Amino acid sequence: MYVVILAGGSGTRFWPLSRKAHPKQLMSVFGGKSMLQRTVERVVPLNPKRILVVTNRLQADETRRQLSHLRGVRVEVIEEPMGRNTAPAICLAATLIARHDPEAVMAVLPADHYIRDEEEFCTTILRAREAAKNGYLVTLGIAPDRPETGYGYIEADTDLRGEGPYPVKRFVEKPDRARALEFLAAGTFYWNSGMFLWRADVILDQIARQMLPLTQAFAGITFSPDIWEPADLAPQIEAVYAMVAGESIDYGVMEKAENVVVLPAAFGWSDVGSWSALPEVLDADAAGNVVIDTATVALDAEGCVVRGGGKLVALVGVRDLVVVDTPDALLVCPKERAQEVKKVVEELERRG
Ligand code: GDD
Ligand code: MG
Repeated sequence: MYVVILAGGSGTRFWPLSRKAHPKQLMSVFGGKSMLQRTVERVVPLNPKRILVVTNRLQADETRRQLSHLRGVRVEVIEEPMGRNTAPAICLAATLIARHDPEAVMAVLPADHYIRDEEEFCTTILRAREAAKNGYLVTLGIAPDRPETGYGYIEADTDLRGEGPYPVKRFVEKPDRARALEFLAAGTFYWNSGMFLWRADVILDQIARQMLPLTQAFAGITFSPDIWEPADLAPQIEAVYAMVAGESIDYGVMEKAENVVVLPAAFGWSDVGSWSALPEVLDADAAGNVVIDTATVALDAEGCVVRGGGKLVALVGVRDLVVVDTPDALLVCPKERAQEVKKVVEELERRG
């Protein structure tokens, strides 16, 4: 099995800690190792043939640096000249893998998710691998507990009595709130975790059916027989990326594909989408404040998320705030508006 780690996102909702060249997956949100390092180390027990980390050129040096300590596992960092969302990144990785072993199973994993039970995670991946070997597009489904509109929803075609994997009736990427509420109430939907297992030849075939221009763009690349790290291919990849449209694998393939199955996953998952998600994955102190790497004095302060970056932070009489300090930027916002932090990044980009 190969592991493909998608690590090219920009994670703007974790500003000011995440920046273009240093996004969420390269951050140590929890203190200690970065999310990317945790993601890579988590799959080592699966003994993959190779781990391909697909990332943006801007993040490649830092990505390599963070992974340079790893021993006993072969990691290739593959650079994209620009972000084109997940479908081209997956197509690139599948094309490289298929050059070596067309029927190899690849596990596609986001670089920026939190997983609580790593042993259960490995067990689930190995079960998913069996279904993938048989030609299915395997999704890992999370039991939903709120009408989240930032996720994909997967309807299982079953009464859910077994253990799965179950056939999928439909895959709906990022529904509006009314539909999300309907899906939650139905009881047969899972959230798409964004982790997929499939054979390289199977996903390339699906891309050819659903996203022909992507296949056509990649068809022009000439590979020398023994190439992994496609640095020599950089000019060719650049030309392909200039040609292809940005699209996610979810809209591009998963919503339309027919051979999709869902395997329920119960390893404790969060995509840690914004500062306000940290209480899902980190323990709060007695007053309900989540404090990362910071000395604090909290007087009558509750439910806050604080990261002081070496500074002492004092909170007096405040509730449910996010306070994140870095050497050159300070964020203060109510937790319930943490999603809007990405607008700060947009505004800063407008200002240039
Ligand atoms: N290499 C590369 N290039 N990686 C990328 C790119 C890109 O252009 N764009 C995004 N990624 C990476 C991100 O870093 C992340 O690890 C992963 O691909 C998913 O991208 P997101 O942008 O975070 O997707 P999303 O959160 O909106 O939606 C996806 O994940 C949800 C669960 O977290 C979908 O798969 C949803 O269906 C799913 O519910
Ligand atoms: Mg995401």
